[in-house]
Amino acid sequence: MTRFETISSLRQYLTSIQSEKTIGLVPTMGALHEGHIKLIEAARQENDLVVSSIFVNPVQFNNPDDLARYPRTLEEDSLQLEAAGCDVVFAPSVAEMYPDSPALRLNFGELETVMEGAFRPGHFNGVGIVVSKLFNIVQPKRAYFGQKDLQQVAVIRRLIRDLSFPVELIRCPTVREADGLAMSSRNRNLTPAEREQAPTLFKALTLARDLLADGHSPVQAKAAVTDMFTSNPNFRLEYVEIVNADTLQIANEVLAPGQTAICLAAHLGKVRLIDNLVF
Ligand code: PAJ
Repeated sequence: MTRFETISSLRQYLTSIQSEKTIGLVPTMGALHEGHIKLIEAARQENDLVVSSIFVNPVQFNNPDDLARYPRTLEEDSLQLEAAGCDVVFAPSVAEMYPDSPALRLNFGELETVMEGAFRPGHFNGVGIVVSKLFNIVQPKRAYFGQKDLQQVAVIRRLIRDLSFPVELIRCPTVREADGLAMSSRNRNLTPAEREQAPTLFKALTLARDLLADGHSPVQAKAAVTDMFTSNPNFRLEYVEIVNADTLQIANEVLAPGQTAICLAAHLGKVRLIDNLVF
């Protein structure tokens, strides 16, 4: 595996190898876990060359404490990537990616009016900018994103369409711990007591899914989830929404199989967690 820290050295390397090689890109912010590794493995199966980026992108953080606390573990990450069969890791500095803070602003319209878009203003602008830069630098045939960040998948789908990037978006399933907690780099910031409580998010999602499957309305399913969190003072539920899994717009009824998503975000201590179930 080769590691690059500058855009020019990575570009030079990628143009020096055969141009007919297909490239699979896995963008990450590091602090890697099994969820990231599954994306690498999917890319490994479908492409000649697997490129992963590790870059904690300041432009997508709307909370300075969250950015400061974000775990940075580049050496361990590199070992994990190599073991998973990644060929190239791109780990630029902030100055390399943003010699000036970008003047460009991306707005994803109604995709931004709900959930992460509403609660993290400017977040998807930052995601869109960094992913566009990575697409331009790496020129992948395919790019791999996790369902864990369902709204991000919808935003990238729109970015690819709006800017005609010749990239195929691959959505990979959410990888969970044995107790249901969705893997996340931020889980490292939970105290042991919080970690024990964290599977409540998954329990709430499965409860909502079961209620909907039994014919209850989205309003009733959301109320049951809200009750579950209000009875536990360690959590602060930020939102729970039942939406169309592709458009992320609010669904007032259960949609066709695979089309309904239950999404939520909750604060547990200092950590903000998100999760979703598509059914
Ligand atoms: P990061 O949170 O590091 O996640 C990188 C990729 O891993 C994303 O596509 C995310 O959805 C996926 N992922 C995270 N946890 C997962 C899990 N438990 N199961 C499956 N996939 C999972 O998402 C970002 O970084 C950034 O916004 C980025 C796209 C890199 C742009 O900066």
